[in-house]
Amino acid sequence: MMNQTEPQPAVTFTLNGETRTFATRPDEKLLDLLRRNGYRGTKFGCGQGTCGACTVIMDGRAVYACLLYSMQAEGRDIRTIEGAGTLDKPSEFQQELIDGGAVQCGYCIPGMVMSATALMEAESTYPDDLVKEYMDGNLCRCTGYEKIWDALRRVLDRREAAAKKG
Ligand code: FES
Ligand code: FES
Repeated sequence: MMNQTEPQPAVTFTLNGETRTFATRPDEKLLDLLRRNGYRGTKFGCGQGTCGACTVIMDGRAVYACLLYSMQAEGRDIRTIEGAGTLDKPSEFQQELIDGGAVQCGYCIPGMVMSATALMEAESTYPDDLVKEYMDGNLCRCTGYEKIWDALRRVLDRREAAAKKG
């Protein structure tokens, strides 16, 4: 237990485009820090790096926030689902998920959106094998994979078609 007189550690990183400093503890996970500070769209699923519910983007890569200590975010660029889209202005993938009836309980969806965002930002073509590599760390306990996949494929197909047109 931390001595009350010890200075409380703090961590500073960019969160959804803003530089933020948060008090933390040496043993606090990034997922817990985010949720404790109101970023509750990032979900706790397994806590062991197997379900993807806690996926955030760190320096352009999708990572499991449940496996990172908060201090490992120091100086990094972190993005969460709160930065991906809003109810009024959903991202393209979020809109396709809604339109395609792909959201059941919704628990996996923030993580899915963050992995898909990392994919779209890092790659310019989206063959199925590559898409599966990016998405295979995200499990859907409602097993709604087909509609989630179809929604993502529609977005990726549009992006590919737009890129071909130049
Ligand atoms: Fe992090 Fe499951 S909660 S991978
Ligand atoms: Fe329920 Fe995926 S929609 S876990």
